[in-house]
Amino acid sequence: MEKQKIILDCDPGHDDAITILMAYTHPSIDLLGITIVSGNQILGKTVKNGLNVAQYLDMDVKIYPGASEPLVRETVIADNVHGVTGMDGPVFEKLKRQPEKKKAVQFIIDSLLESSGDIILVPTGPLTNIALAMKIEPAIIPKIKEIVLMGGAYGNGNFTPSAEFNIFADPEAAHVVFKSGASIVMMGLDVTNQTICTTEVIERMESADNKAGKLFGDLMRFTLKTQYEEFGLEAGPLHDSTTVAYIVNKELFEVQEMFVEVDINRGPSYGRTVCDESNVLKEKPNVKVGKKVDTAKFFDLVEECIKMY
Ligand code: BDR
Ligand code: CA
Repeated sequence: MEKQKIILDCDPGHDDAITILMAYTHPSIDLLGITIVSGNQILGKTVKNGLNVAQYLDMDVKIYPGASEPLVRETVIADNVHGVTGMDGPVFEKLKRQPEKKKAVQFIIDSLLESSGDIILVPTGPLTNIALAMKIEPAIIPKIKEIVLMGGAYGNGNFTPSAEFNIFADPEAAHVVFKSGASIVMMGLDVTNQTICTTEVIERMESADNKAGKLFGDLMRFTLKTQYEEFGLEAGPLHDSTTVAYIVNKELFEVQEMFVEVDINRGPSYGRTVCDESNVLKEKPNVKVGKKVDTAKFFDLVEECIKMY
């Protein structure tokens, strides 16, 4: 089987960590590197979390630190959902692994320029690293096979009534990426909120009785706690993992092509992905927007990945 090359650009993050776990092990994916951005927590913490996951699961993958601040706006973090460390829950041994000296943006640029146009970028945090790479080296844009990202929504937001966290955390970067002309698949809240992880799902993954199953449980038990405290919900979504699931098996998803723009006005809709679902503007669609996922098959895939450890 020809493996799909990807670069995972993330801000771990509970659901980011599970996405790393899936991307590393799935036989149809070739994880070229993990690039990290500030988002769920400050960069120092998201890098440490990525390294902890890689060390705990003994992954042979390089981790590149990226942008520590959004392009224009002031920094926002999601410690209400992800805690003080950005990935509260699991307890790791002393960290021995180091991040690469090369910066994330340079790694993304070099990888794309050297490629034959066969790399998919998979951003699951704010789009700062991707926008910076595009601005520093626009020649990468035609080299990007596709960008499969988690972010945005055509319905309600989760950080403001209008905006989803990853886009709200760097709307100007998202604006650059959505306007770039690159082929984009957007896994927004409308679809990611269908990946509801319940206590039963957690117990099922833990029953794999290996390190990956334990990590899943430690992460998602904390997520369930904050989802209850923050939103009164009894279960929590696995937002970011929809990206890797889509790359592995598109048939799990229903998507619709739409014209999407990011609102960068500093009003109540700052950071909103304005999606022309009804095509009222008659603009050329620039994004495939996720609408539905087969939740049962999605969790079968998560389990399949966990059992590979
Ligand atoms: C997104 O924001 C973060 O909190 C999650 O990791 C996910 O990428 C969901 O809005
Ligand atoms: Ca994330």
